[in-house]
Amino acid sequence: MEDGPVNLREFQELAKRNLPKMYYDYFSGGAEDQFTLRENVEAFQRIMLRPRILVDVSKIDMSTTLLGYNMSSPILVAPTGSQQLAHPQGELATARAAAACNAIMVLSFASNYSLEDVASTCNAVRFYQLYVFKRRDVSATLLQRAERNGYKAIVVTVDTPRLGRREADEKNKMIIPRNSNLEGLISVDADLTGGSKLEAYASETLDPSLSWKDIEWLKSITKLPIILKGIITAEDARKAVDAGVSGIVVSNHGGRQLDYTPPTISVLEEVVKAVSGAVPVLLDGGVRRGTDVFKALALGAKAVMIGRPVVYGLAANGEHGVRSVIKMLQNELELTMALAGCPTLRDITRNHVMINHERPR
Ligand code: FNR
Repeated sequence: MEDGPVNLREFQELAKRNLPKMYYDYFSGGAEDQFTLRENVEAFQRIMLRPRILVDVSKIDMSTTLLGYNMSSPILVAPTGSQQLAHPQGELATARAAAACNAIMVLSFASNYSLEDVASTCNAVRFYQLYVFKRRDVSATLLQRAERNGYKAIVVTVDTPRLGRREADEKNKMIIPRNSNLEGLISVDADLTGGSKLEAYASETLDPSLSWKDIEWLKSITKLPIILKGIITAEDARKAVDAGVSGIVVSNHGGRQLDYTPPTISVLEEVVKAVSGAVPVLLDGGVRRGTDVFKALALGAKAVMIGRPVVYGLAANGEHGVRSVIKMLQNELELTMALAGCPTLRDITRNHVMINHERPR
């Protein structure tokens, strides 16, 4: 794309220009002071690389597997809701773009296109993200529909017993976008006047009593592997392994839930150590560069997921925009691997990074 964006940050600028303020604020914003939102990005900038020289990097292989599924690179599409607010083709465009890049898409429970529509738009390995609702039958139904429609894993988001306070959404009186998956399943009586309507909607539907025993229940109603998204401590990582999950996503929800949680890259190693290889550990939050992906892998992540950059690509240029975002990040990772002397992902080690958690003076 001539004169097009040359990095992921420039897609954000385009998205800002293209979107109504209410929607841009919804996509870009975080909780309260937005400390965690900023830190997710900035913490990557406090990690330096230690490249090795004189390694044959004439061929770079970024391919890997997750739960037995092949991926062209260790980059997945994180679940983000309401993608039609970014582009009329919404999740359909994202699904096609991800498939074209051989990247696994995790479809948000809050998609504007139904999980069936997304499944039928093109063939690809996809995961489905689930919240557990007060009405357990609704979650069970969604899970069974995901299973029937060929989704290969269930990503259960566990950092959202209630919705974090996103003040921009409150100010803008953010609307509730249509969730096609819930049509006919849930009707909400919340008073939706005033404040962010999302918050009222979430507190009517999400179950704040969700606890570890419910993971057992989820496991009992599906054969699909269950991945827990939203773990940021060693303690919970160990509990997740004991509960028999198949994977963990180190995530603070892109800084949209509990503010002042640490940036994900700073707690990745703690979680990886606690898990000690029992299940794959993924990371999301603030990944904007190929070097960020490299850093996460060096600190033990099996793969990373990207949230906002995908939505910005979608807002900038639909399916093509999402494809550019994923490709750009893949290309940056490939170059980073070459310059760091790592022809394959297995060559990336802890010794390739150096952490400086202090702010540069
Ligand atoms: C999200 N995220 C999210 N997570 C989830 O489990 N279910 C969801 O429906 C959503 N919806 C959602 C909407 C929007 C607009 C954003 C920005 C994020 C969180 C998402 O999966 C992921 O954790 C973060 O987006 C990762 O951080 P970055 O890549 O956006 O910095």
